[in-house]
Amino acid sequence: MKVYNNPLYYEVAFSFFNPKKQVDHFEDIIRRFSRIKVERFLDIACGPSLQLREIARRGYNAVGLDKSRKMLQYLQSKAKEEGLRIEIVQADMTRFGLKKKADFAFIMMGSFSFKSNEDLLKHLNSVANSLNSGGLYFIQNFGVNWKVDWTKVQRQTWEMEKNGVKVEATYEIAVKNVVNQTIVERIILEVDDRCKKRTLTQEEELKLVFPQEFKLLVKMNKRFEFLGWWKGNVDEWYLDQPLETVYDENLNINMVLLRRK
Ligand SMILES: C[S@@+](CC[C@H](N)C(=O)[O-])C[C@H]1O[C@@H](n2cnc3c(N)ncnc32)[C@H](O)[C@@H]1O
Repeated sequence: MKVYNNPLYYEVAFSFFNPKKQVDHFEDIIRRFSRIKVERFLDIACGPSLQLREIARRGYNAVGLDKSRKMLQYLQSKAKEEGLRIEIVQADMTRFGLKKKADFAFIMMGSFSFKSNEDLLKHLNSVANSLNSGGLYFIQNFGVNWKVDWTKVQRQTWEMEKNGVKVEATYEIAVKNVVNQTIVERIILEVDDRCKKRTLTQEEELKLVFPQEFKLLVKMNKRFEFLGWWKGNVDEWYLDQPLETVYDENLNINMVLLRRK
């Protein structure tokens, strides 16, 4: 069973952040950097999007884009339970367009990852086509892992529990090819749903994009200004700590800000 086809278990495993804090930060970042008033938010690779639910609660227009129909159906059912309105778009993030453009776009939890630089450029074009001029594109945890150890598998495990559902989650990265900068990313969820046990997995081959390479790709795309990158944790970002000036063992949680020209 695939992780992304099981939104409830994904949500239990990955809801270790505070969406209110994140949206407070979005509002702060918008005040400081956006050239336009923001009414319409777009969450790319949204999954169960706790963020869009908070955004809709605050009265903004909320749009969620994901490849997985199951994730989108789950998000809409959660919105309905709370009497919120969230628009959904089922599409691949490397080729999409919106009927009505957004004023602020964001992508969370390391979802800004692609099989190739060509796909990354196609993605930037799709976002540029879907974002009003002067609007921001916020990227959380860009780079999957900048601190890759090319010699061994890297693994993190943690446990979460919500409403009687326990999940032990494992996130692994193994280098596949150093020259092509490819890795295999694996997510494993061991679920104990009120004593019913099951294992979900998700595996994908991705290409690492290193920081200076990313800047060049943004330049090549020509449609965004690179505003900067900053240190953060899961739900806070420190605008007084640009990554160029801080030394940190763990740069994996970070934020990058682009602005549509
Ligand atoms: C790591 S989850 C992130 C979900 C959510 N943004 C969060 O912060 O928890 C990645 C999500 O991206 C979606 N996804 C993966 N590849 C995609 C693609 N090429 N286009 C659109 N969505 C994609 C998956 O279905 C999944 O919901």
